[in-house]
Amino acid sequence: MSGRMTALVTGANGELGHALIARLVEEGSRDVIAIDLREPDASIASKCAQVIVGDVTQRTTFEQVNPSARVDSVFHLAALLSTASEKNPERAQSVNVDGLIQALTFAMAHSARVDRRVKVLFPSSIAAYGVASLEAKSALGAANETQASEPTTMYGLNKRYGEQLGCYFSERYRQLSTEANPPGVDFRSIRYPGIISAFTLPTGGTSDYLPEYLHAAAQGKPYACFVRGDTRVPFMAMPDAVRALLMLEKAAPETLTQRVYNVTACNPTPVEFSKLLQKALPPAALSFDVSAARQRIVDSWPEQLDDQAARKDWGWAPTMGLDEMVNEYLLPNVVARYAR
Ligand SMILES: NC(=O)c1ccc[n+]([C@@H]2O[C@H](COP(=O)([O-])OP(=O)(O)OC[C@H]3O[C@@H](n4cnc5c(N)ncnc54)[C@H](O)[C@@H]3O)[C@@H](O)[C@H]2O)c1
Repeated sequence: MSGRMTALVTGANGELGHALIARLVEEGSRDVIAIDLREPDASIASKCAQVIVGDVTQRTTFEQVNPSARVDSVFHLAALLSTASEKNPERAQSVNVDGLIQALTFAMAHSARVDRRVKVLFPSSIAAYGVASLEAKSALGAANETQASEPTTMYGLNKRYGEQLGCYFSERYRQLSTEANPPGVDFRSIRYPGIISAFTLPTGGTSDYLPEYLHAAAQGKPYACFVRGDTRVPFMAMPDAVRALLMLEKAAPETLTQRVYNVTACNPTPVEFSKLLQKALPPAALSFDVSAARQRIVDSWPEQLDDQAARKDWGWAPTMGLDEMVNEYLLPNVVARYAR
């Protein structure tokens, strides 16, 4: 292990992990240590200074981090996503909450070793919102970070609590302790919309319908969508999701007016998305096999996010709206993938 700083990435073998690690390696300024429950792909493992196959709910997993590593940021991506969390709420609580506590505890202890605050980057989600009805959703429009913050799902509850837990660790941890505290944790969180990658397929999320449809259409297969055609929630392309996380990580602390920020790019309905796919990849056949339970979940999410705070505080703006995302990023890459 070199004397350079290190980025620790949990959930490294997931969709966001793949894209983030590729970007960190491209930047080249830090070593990367990966943690995942599953043995990471060779494409990830070959890029990392250390790979730990372990469960983030266990302290012993973090204890395996090379003792000479100097971690400046923990990207805590390991999670059970929304549909998977509804199916197994106990496991969701364990991975999404206990896992975060272990990541924060590691960062807190490690800050003493590196003698500086250690950043913890936490991807939260649009699931942290809870809108009571379709009428309320329509009246709300683009939600800022303080509106409609009563989530209705296990995943949303876990994410909302995770945001608050991170703020607690950053600002009030052991406030009554008489012992000297370590330099501490600098927690920063992004509330993501649904993320669409041209290179990986999602599993276990409730916004998976657009990426599933895209990958089906690229293989010439019909797709049966599990939500209604007029369902409107926000989305963004994976490269912008990674860019946002790294922009927030690098922002000077004095520019941040909050610890949890919305980001967004576009909010197509399945029918609007199908028009773009059908033009480029006919037939891109779309039908509907609506799951009442999953529909209820997306209906409780706002139709758009207000990301003014991120724009103002750290200069956020997406590089891709809907047309660029589909025509310049998703289609060329997904077509090339299935042509091989
Ligand atoms: N993909 C999206 O649309 C989206 C949207 C909003 C927020 N997020 C958040 O972004 C983060 C990354 O999401 P993703 O899309 O890459 O998810 P993913 O399901 O593709 O990846 C999650 C990874 O975490 C790992 N993992 C699960 N439980 C673990 C455990 N106990 N210990 C160690 N590793 C464990 C899995 O093996 C997997 O590789 C998550 O926190 C997710 O909640 C994702």
